[in-house]
Amino acid sequence: MNLKETALYVFVAIGAGTCSLLIAGSSKKTGPDTSNWLPARKADLHAVPLSELPEKAPALESEWLANHWKTPVPAQGKKPSGWSTVETDLSPETCGVCHPSQYADWKESWHANAMGPGVIGQLLDRDEPDDGYAEICQACHAPLTEQHPFVQTTKTETDENGKKKKIISGEPNPDFDESLRSKGLTCAACHVRNWQRHGPPKSDDLEAVTTGPHGGFVPKSEYQDSRFCYRCHDFRPGKRSLNDKMIQETYEEWRRTKYAEEGVHCQDCHMPEGRHLFKGIHDADMVNKAFTAEFVLLSNEKVPDSIKADFTLTNTGAGHRFPTYVTPQVNLVIWQVDAQGEAIAGTRKMDAIARKVSPNISKEYFDTRLMPDESYTFAYSEKRHENATALQAAVEVWPDENYTQFYKLRIKNGPEMHPTTLPMMQEALDDSLASRFTAWEQRIELD
Ligand code: HEC
Ligand code: HEC
Ligand code: HEC
Ligand code: HEC
Ligand code: HEC
Repeated sequence: MNLKETALYVFVAIGAGTCSLLIAGSSKKTGPDTSNWLPARKADLHAVPLSELPEKAPALESEWLANHWKTPVPAQGKKPSGWSTVETDLSPETCGVCHPSQYADWKESWHANAMGPGVIGQLLDRDEPDDGYAEICQACHAPLTEQHPFVQTTKTETDENGKKKKIISGEPNPDFDESLRSKGLTCAACHVRNWQRHGPPKSDDLEAVTTGPHGGFVPKSEYQDSRFCYRCHDFRPGKRSLNDKMIQETYEEWRRTKYAEEGVHCQDCHMPEGRHLFKGIHDADMVNKAFTAEFVLLSNEKVPDSIKADFTLTNTGAGHRFPTYVTPQVNLVIWQVDAQGEAIAGTRKMDAIARKVSPNISKEYFDTRLMPDESYTFAYSEKRHENATALQAAVEVWPDENYTQFYKLRIKNGPEMHPTTLPMMQEALDDSLASRFTAWEQRIELD
């Protein structure tokens, strides 16, 4: 791989139901975010497609869920008579008046950030009645009709060459609430249809509760099942895949784990005791629950001035591949340290646990993601520096790596953008860089 190749960053918007992803090619700089030279890439490692792994639980069919997740979620409609203004307000803050603990958790979650600068920054300059882009993205990021600026209809027309074309036409949405749009994945998107609340049952009783605020609620067991999360955390079968693996297939991964067999659902790990934190790759404690690290110095008597070490990570806690998406990069890093505890230049080597794909998602560079109980070993073998007194290992997590590269490109192409986009992309880039953290560290003293 020629490290001097020009940067090749491409923005890919892959049809309905997919996320916009930026995939890094090689860059001018040989800094750590050019990842194509990593040992995993050299060894051409590719995790197998899910079709090769046995299913441990059947895919749950639920007509109710299929209906529940038709997007955009229809407007709630006429307010029920006799309800107070707090009962007919969709904003999470108002739900929080009576459900303060769920609100406090949710507000800190990534679901509350689902229309952050990196997302809305890409949508504002496409807010036109005949542009369906925002609708695609908002199906997962902000699915309520009240969060959409336009009411749109799509019809298919055949042009003079017999080619089928999708024609989108839209009108300003009378129910549009701009401030609700920015709230992302709200309480109401998961819980409210036609003003009716739905939630997990309190016991085995699935009888609707018809008393109390907002006319009670309808209990649904689906809230405690992994399938509830499927709509947004997996792409539909038939959508674009690469090496027979979808770009997002978390539920399908989960179905092939021992957790599915044991009945441990997404909610058990991401909503313990019903808490609405939805912690994941951005949270150091959560990431530490995902893996066990082992760092061992190997003897190398034949070559006395060299250092060999094995750094092994095992997925001992993520209920799907670790990590599940193409977005994050989990780095295994090793370097030599001098008597002052300083890193010695030139001794730092790294590898990654990640799924790295090419610009148009036509090529997978490598895929070292780990299913539960799978391990990956990064072998360090370098000359021992004369000042080296210790060897240090770290697990460094870049939760937003693909987006980091994408925002850089958008900023580079700044002048072509909508004026509001540029500062948002800058903010998103800063956030994505600030989200990097060290999850684990260990130092071994050298004799
Ligand atoms: C099928 C559901 C789905 C659709 C459709 C979707 N996304 Fe996402 N998006 C996700 C999920 C899940 C994540 C978090 C995991 C990740 O980072 O890939 C995410 C993360 C992101 C992020 C990074 C996190 C952040 O908030 O900054 C951006 C930016 C983003 N999406 C933009 C888009 C855009 C633009 C579109 C429309 C072209 C889109 N997404 C469509 C599900 C979706
Ligand atoms: C991504 C979808 C999602 C969002 C967003 C969401 N919830 Fe929930 N909520 C759930 C699920 C799933 C459960 C069931 C959790 C369980 O029982 O394990 C639940 C449970 C509940 C319950 C039942 C009691 C409990 O805590 O288990 C209440 C009340 C509730 N949510 C209110 C809210 C409020 C208020 C908000 C916004 C501040 C909110 N939810 C946002 C999915 C969501
Ligand atoms: C005026 C106070 C009030 C407001 C405002 C309110 N709720 Fe409730 N909600 C309640 C009460 C009280 C219950 C019944 C709680 C119980 O039985 O534990 C309830 C029950 C629920 C349940 C069912 C919990 C379960 O056990 O399954 C859900 C879900 C829910 N609310 C969601 C919401 C959402 C979403 C909003 C905002 C759109 C909201 N609520 C606004 C008071 C309120
Ligand atoms: C309506 C779509 C939707 C549903 C349903 C949904 N999610 Fe998400 N989820 C998203 C989007 C979009 C993001 C990315 C948010 C962002 O861009 O900031 C996300 C992000 C996450 C993250 C990532 C946190 C991180 O650190 O990156 C976790 C964990 C998560 N969701 C868990 C769940 C679980 C568990 C469920 C089911 C109970 C669920 N989600 C249901 C849309 C959804
Ligand atoms: C046994 C516990 C467990 C179960 C079950 C589980 N997860 Fe996770 N999940 C984790 C841990 C730990 C992490 C943090 C490490 C990581 O990112 O893989 C995580 C991370 C995530 C992320 C962050 C993004 C990323 O690239 O990793 C998302 C999104 C997510 N989980 C969604 C889900 C969904 C949806 C389900 C159910 C289909 C689910 N999880 C089931 C433990 C679990």
